[in-house]
Amino acid sequence: MTTLNILVCDGLDEGGLELFRAAPGVRVDVPDQLGAVEIKKILPEYDAMIVRSRTKVNGDMIENAPRLKVIGRAGTGVDNIEVEPASARGILVMNTPGANAMAAAEHTIAMMLSLARHIPQATQSMRQGLWEKKKFVGTELYHQTLGVIGLGKIGAIVADRALAMKMEVLAFDPHIVPEMAAVIGAEYVPLDQLLARSDFITLHTPLNEETRHVIGRESLAKTKKGVRIINCARGGLIDEPALREALVSGQVAGAALDVFEKEPPAENPLLGLENVIFTPHLGASSLQAQENVSRAIASQILDYLQRGLIRNAVNFPSISMKDYERVRPYLVLAERLGHLQGQLCSPVKKLEITYSGPDMQDIPIQPLTQTVIKGLLDPVMAEKVNLINAPLILKQRQIELTASTTSESKGYTGEIAVKVTGKKEVYSAAGTVIQGQVRLVRLNDYRLEAELEGINLIIQNLDKPGMIGFIGTTLGNFNVNIANMHLSRTPEHDSAVAIVRLDNEAPNDAIEVLRAHPGIVFVKQVKL
Ligand code: NAD
Ligand code: MLT
Repeated sequence: MTTLNILVCDGLDEGGLELFRAAPGVRVDVPDQLGAVEIKKILPEYDAMIVRSRTKVNGDMIENAPRLKVIGRAGTGVDNIEVEPASARGILVMNTPGANAMAAAEHTIAMMLSLARHIPQATQSMRQGLWEKKKFVGTELYHQTLGVIGLGKIGAIVADRALAMKMEVLAFDPHIVPEMAAVIGAEYVPLDQLLARSDFITLHTPLNEETRHVIGRESLAKTKKGVRIINCARGGLIDEPALREALVSGQVAGAALDVFEKEPPAENPLLGLENVIFTPHLGASSLQAQENVSRAIASQILDYLQRGLIRNAVNFPSISMKDYERVRPYLVLAERLGHLQGQLCSPVKKLEITYSGPDMQDIPIQPLTQTVIKGLLDPVMAEKVNLINAPLILKQRQIELTASTTSESKGYTGEIAVKVTGKKEVYSAAGTVIQGQVRLVRLNDYRLEAELEGINLIIQNLDKPGMIGFIGTTLGNFNVNIANMHLSRTPEHDSAVAIVRLDNEAPNDAIEVLRAHPGIVFVKQVKL
């Protein structure tokens, strides 16, 4: 058994390291804070790498890492990982959403209270021997309005805690249904209204092109005068020079920042302001959160590398353990059908996949579809095709894809039908799983129950006497042994198909002899 090598780049709580060490055939290395060049140099040895926020993973770093299958982020934000080059190389990127949500939410509440009551400034003043009671008169949170931008895992906990302190909570999140806010007890409002009505604004969105500088000059001009802003999400959400202007002018009374556009924030224009309080990206820094993210990423990586189970991937649809158990028997079928069709038809212009039967209802079809695509493209591509890069390669090759589920049953508990259209030809193949064995049950108009594995000759011939004998004799003449044979014919008995399973590959000369027979219409050797 080959060892699975795991590289931990930014340190990791013992909990996750213990899981790796206890797993058979796994080696985990935790070198001391390596730089990008050193990581790139040793990465070819590793099957998985784990980072927190320090290491920036880009296309260059993973360029020569042929073994690398997964990049794990022990935390939430994946903005330090370039996901696209990873996907293009078939590398899964996964994070641990929610594992540090409580820590980040509680930190946000702590920052809001500290900001409201000037606790860091008062501490500082006392350290200097002062007793400035008048200077540090604060504001209560009771009956104040908190605007939450981004009502995801952390935003929702913050909203809940703020409601418990009897604040009024407004929420803006264009990607949730307003009812979600109502369930928590927040009022769902448009962004402009949130800006205009809030006494405190807290940010809990990911950083992306849509959210970058969501707090900037324009939005700050729409806020209530004297608003206080808290950011424990990502630095780039706030335009820092614009915030500085607003803090100096008094439009913003104060800010509490855990995250910065550049970290550590050496030259940050906000550092010198009295009315801003800071923590050095401590949102997730609780003992519990560090253990949670560590254990979560380790078990996710082991599940993926050892069992193929994908959870919390940002470049692949995640699947629950329950659904995985339902999908698993069909993964092999999906790959073999794709593989068969990729060998029968090339180039493929259109790929149509239909899932039918009771087993196929309400299961996530995306992993199966991506497996069919992998099976279809892998034999014809020089680059390695896997579940992660398969859709991207399909798109690059301009192959049209449709995938659907139908409640119509074709007589099997679960059936996958894969139809491919080439320049002129169309092939459709359907299969099922019977007692754990994958079976081909239809090939174009022929009904079958053939094993879908090994080396096979697919032969279409006229349905007349002597054809099977000719096939057997020809293969025998070339010393090719037949393992078994499945036959089917059209209802009209005009043509027939034979799926001939071989013990060894038939040479081209044998295939040419078969093709030259006037009764044989089509011969193709496929390896499944
Ligand atoms: P999440 O995915 O559960 O929630 C994010 C929410 O933002 C989602 O509901 C999404 O719909 C919403 N959103 C997306 N675009 C939006 C937009 N344009 N306007 C408003 N809402 C938008 O993520 P989460 O786990 O709650 O994490 C939130 C943020 O906190 C992330 O940026 C994460 O990286 C950061 N984080 C920071 C720390 C820390 O140490 N400071 C710790 C954990 C997470
Ligand atoms: C996260 O995204 O999980 C937090 O920012 C914490 C961290 O960077 O580890």
